[in-house]
Amino acid sequence: MESSLRFSSLAFIALLAYFAFLASAELHVREFVIQPKPVKRLCRTHESITVNGQFPGPTLEVRNGDSLAITVINKARYNISIHWHGIRQLRNPWADGPEYITQCPIRPGQSYTYRFTIEDQEGTLWWHAHSRWLRATVYGALIIYPRLGSPYPFHMPKRDIPILLGEWWDRNPMDVLRQAQFTGAAANVSDAYTINGQPGDLYRCSRSETVRFPIFPGETVQLRVINAGLNQELFFSVANHQLTVVETDSAYTKPFTTSVIMIGPGQTTNVLLTANQRPGRYYMAAHAYNSANAPFDNTTTTAILEYVNAPTRRGRGRGQIAPVFPVLPGFNDTATATAFTNRLRYWKRAPVPLQIDENLFFTVGLGLINCSNPNSPRCQGPNGTRFAASINNQSFVLPRRNSIMQAYYQGMPGIFTTDFPPVPPVQFDYTGNVSRGLWQPVKGTKAYKLKYKANVQIVLQDTSIVTPENHPMHLHGYQFYVVGSGFGNFNPRTDPARFNLFDPPERNTIGTPPGGWVAVRFVADNPGAWFMHCHIDSHLGWGLAMVFLVENGRGQLQSVQAPPLDLPRC
Ligand code: C2O
Repeated sequence: MESSLRFSSLAFIALLAYFAFLASAELHVREFVIQPKPVKRLCRTHESITVNGQFPGPTLEVRNGDSLAITVINKARYNISIHWHGIRQLRNPWADGPEYITQCPIRPGQSYTYRFTIEDQEGTLWWHAHSRWLRATVYGALIIYPRLGSPYPFHMPKRDIPILLGEWWDRNPMDVLRQAQFTGAAANVSDAYTINGQPGDLYRCSRSETVRFPIFPGETVQLRVINAGLNQELFFSVANHQLTVVETDSAYTKPFTTSVIMIGPGQTTNVLLTANQRPGRYYMAAHAYNSANAPFDNTTTTAILEYVNAPTRRGRGRGQIAPVFPVLPGFNDTATATAFTNRLRYWKRAPVPLQIDENLFFTVGLGLINCSNPNSPRCQGPNGTRFAASINNQSFVLPRRNSIMQAYYQGMPGIFTTDFPPVPPVQFDYTGNVSRGLWQPVKGTKAYKLKYKANVQIVLQDTSIVTPENHPMHLHGYQFYVVGSGFGNFNPRTDPARFNLFDPPERNTIGTPPGGWVAVRFVADNPGAWFMHCHIDSHLGWGLAMVFLVENGRGQLQSVQAPPLDLPRC
């Protein structure tokens, strides 16, 4: 009698705990209205495409375990789709967002509701348009707090500041893209970088709107730095202040201190900053890390960290004292960029796959398509060619008639093939002086099939075709471990011995060292069609992309869910 009473009270407590757990998971219902809105920057007003009239777009703040239902209503004149960058979307590729990969775009006047749940993820991610160059202005932060009562692995400051780094064109970005697509030449570089949408003091007509962050002396804050820029890796630094890195791409790291971070498009980096300097005003600044032999935007964006007790100037010329400027590395300082990236470690022992089922070797880089008439206005690339880019010599072309995921699910033929090559068609000295005969890739829409739960390793090998370059490679639907990297050609006999299989950083986007390679591992436990591509949008448009088609497992919980009824059709 007594023991059954005890059992039922235990069961009751367990039930209460279960309800508390359920009650703590929230559903966030939001509307994202895609609409043009006049935005004035660099002395000129443009009708920018925005979400709800906001630029940058709204910040989403959720908890691990929460669900989101975001209705995107397209009131702009362009097709659009929204990607939730870094969210795993387990068995739910329908909510991932890349146009023609997992969905057809949302047409003007139409809408689509992205429904998804955050499953075992916390930290800083972001969302952005995944349709041509619309993400130039359509992006925002997506912050995932731990479940209620679940601790951070470091002392979490009370204040949290999203820092969205962006790129601004003094033109309609869609026209910049259209022109480049016509001529085959490289697109114009941006006219400014921005911090939370503002270029800052160093640009024309921008001073009064420079973003300011007040801070109390002695206070520690967390900066959630997101590189939402279209085409450029950036160095970021705060004058006189050290930054302690605690997280990248929504995965905690072993904390380490640095004066500068390098962040590629698509990546996020959380740093702690303590206001332990003389009360004053300090610039935070970002400028290009340019690893390629190519034109780039060499301007500098700034915001101001302002101690609330900063002294003011007295007497004549009264007012605020001039901010201190940080030391940023040189534009081509690959040594600093690499040293920073190589310091990242997962915060604890990582469950890295050790037995590899799929050993993939991908060459990534640029290329040139020869023209029959090199004087054509459509062949304004180097020596009368058109720019291209490829993985294993395959230059990816988006399908038009359907998305890959929809075609796969419906068994519709003719949209894509599954013969993406696991290795390049020929072996050559990838980072040496590559013969011209190997510069021209082949166009196609090819996917690579993976068995459910396969242990995958990919070595991403940069090539020196056209130029060596840091390519920030992003994989949808997964987080991977970055187990090794180096310069020159990957050596399969000697390099794996030096892999870090203990605490390699977990990421969703990793740059190839320019003229080097990087190796990543993951378990293919998320069925669906998942895009992998360079997060530099001009390279993506040239074809630096491929698709993994991860097969279903046996059980229902190992298979792709049924598509939602409002999934857009092509
Ligand atoms: Cu953040 Cu496919 O991109």
